[in-house]
Amino acid sequence: MNATPRLAILISGTGSNMEAIARACRDGSLDAKTAVVISDNPNAEGLRRARRMGIDTAVCRYRRGVPREENEAPIVEEIRSRGVDWIVLAGFMKVLTPSFVREFPGRVINIHPSILPAFPGAHAIRDALAAGADFTGVTVHIVDELVDHGPIIAQEEASILPGDTEETLAARIHAIEHRLYPRTLRQIIHEDI
Ligand code: GRF
Repeated sequence: MNATPRLAILISGTGSNMEAIARACRDGSLDAKTAVVISDNPNAEGLRRARRMGIDTAVCRYRRGVPREENEAPIVEEIRSRGVDWIVLAGFMKVLTPSFVREFPGRVINIHPSILPAFPGAHAIRDALAAGADFTGVTVHIVDELVDHGPIIAQEEASILPGDTEETLAARIHAIEHRLYPRTLRQIIHEDI
């Protein structure tokens, strides 16, 4: 482990959680460095956000018809060559293979927009609304070899209000995420839980 822990943040889209974490690193509230932001999607808004903050970025595109391990190899290479200690998933839409997770045991962290094990999968916010749930929320967990699964480190509930749409609920959830993710990373990285 580096004296100042080094993070690789993996994204596929907007990157608002990535930005919240990178800001926490920059203002010192999270004693870590964003070593690189990696995206499978070359057009991710989060790549532009990272570059604006002066953070190194890498695009690791997935090729169709190629085994997932092969698609992950460039990501593993980025992580290794940059001396990364922790891999932080922040809206990374590809499922990582068991062999990737075994390469970095206990060192891959994810945020998911529901109270797991409720509403796993890529449409957690939509699914909670469609189920007519009274509340949903956010989970931060260590990634194991199953999808949206592994030791839960933090959860926070968000109410679902009458008239909520996917957009209004997503905004409430994002506000929680931007607070909860940097705070929980601090706990995981520095309190050794
Ligand atoms: C977040 O809601 C996160 O929980 C989920 O993907 C979304 C990413 O949003 N895994 P953003 O790209 O950080 O804005």
